[in-house]
Amino acid sequence: MFGFPSPGNASTFAGPWNWLFLVLIGLSLLFAVPIFLLLLYFSARYHRGSRADRRMPQFSEVKIELVWIAVPVVLALIVFAWAARLYVNMYQPPAGAMEINVIGKQWFWEFQHPEGQRELAELHVPVGRPIRLTLTSEDVIHSLYVPAFRIKQDAVPGRYTTIWFQATETGEFRLTCTEYCGLDHALMGGKVYVMSQANYEQWLSGTGATGLASTGEGLFRQYGCSGCHRMDGSGTGPSLVGLYGRQVPLADGSFATADDRYIHDSILLPNLQITAGYQPVMPSFRGQLSEGEIFSIVAYIKSLGLAP
Ligand code: CUA
Repeated sequence: MFGFPSPGNASTFAGPWNWLFLVLIGLSLLFAVPIFLLLLYFSARYHRGSRADRRMPQFSEVKIELVWIAVPVVLALIVFAWAARLYVNMYQPPAGAMEINVIGKQWFWEFQHPEGQRELAELHVPVGRPIRLTLTSEDVIHSLYVPAFRIKQDAVPGRYTTIWFQATETGEFRLTCTEYCGLDHALMGGKVYVMSQANYEQWLSGTGATGLASTGEGLFRQYGCSGCHRMDGSGTGPSLVGLYGRQVPLADGSFATADDRYIHDSILLPNLQITAGYQPVMPSFRGQLSEGEIFSIVAYIKSLGLAP
């Protein structure tokens, strides 16, 4: 755009952010250039020994003062409202967005598709579809950055963060880590491949993966979760059918929303939030399950039905 070096404009966020950025630079120049020129002028005119008029006339004009206060304030508020809208929008994916999980590890990115495909340092996505990324980390804080999409989001251990994008053109785009995370931080990059819907489906079918939820179901049995969390609720632990999205009554009288994060924490820190009417007997699976495995168990529990 305008001949500036650009990382490419490949998502619906690129245009709006470019405009905001240009307007910010324009406004900064609008104020900085006259001030700088006046500075030079006054330095030359009033330098020591110059024959300038140094009487100090008393002068005050309320109107001028109001103008130079009001104009910058209004401009700043306009920029604030504009930027805030763009920013909030980046964190509100449209309904029906495709979900992809992202795990940062020293020192590579792992991506999980809902159909079960796993990729390392590469992300294949279809063009023209909103895609919601849920990020976490296996070790330290990383940050996923795709310059051509204008998205950047931290991946924080023990937390789920989200961001979304919609690619507008097919091609290869650089992704990288922008949070210093140790020795090979600089090498923690990769590529996003934006494909046509048809090519994407072909790619999906070519990987031979089974769905994320069915991987989760396998783990759910393998780790013995199914022994206590029986479908019919007759087990030591509560049934997880229809759990996702529900308000869960807790032993301390409060309620928790059963979202991704709640399920994640229940697996790793089971004694933090005890469901009302149950004993705190669930063991922690910290250190036994990777974040990728927990994502697939969350997908399995989601597949057991949404709360009405
Ligand atoms: Cu991961 Cu820097």
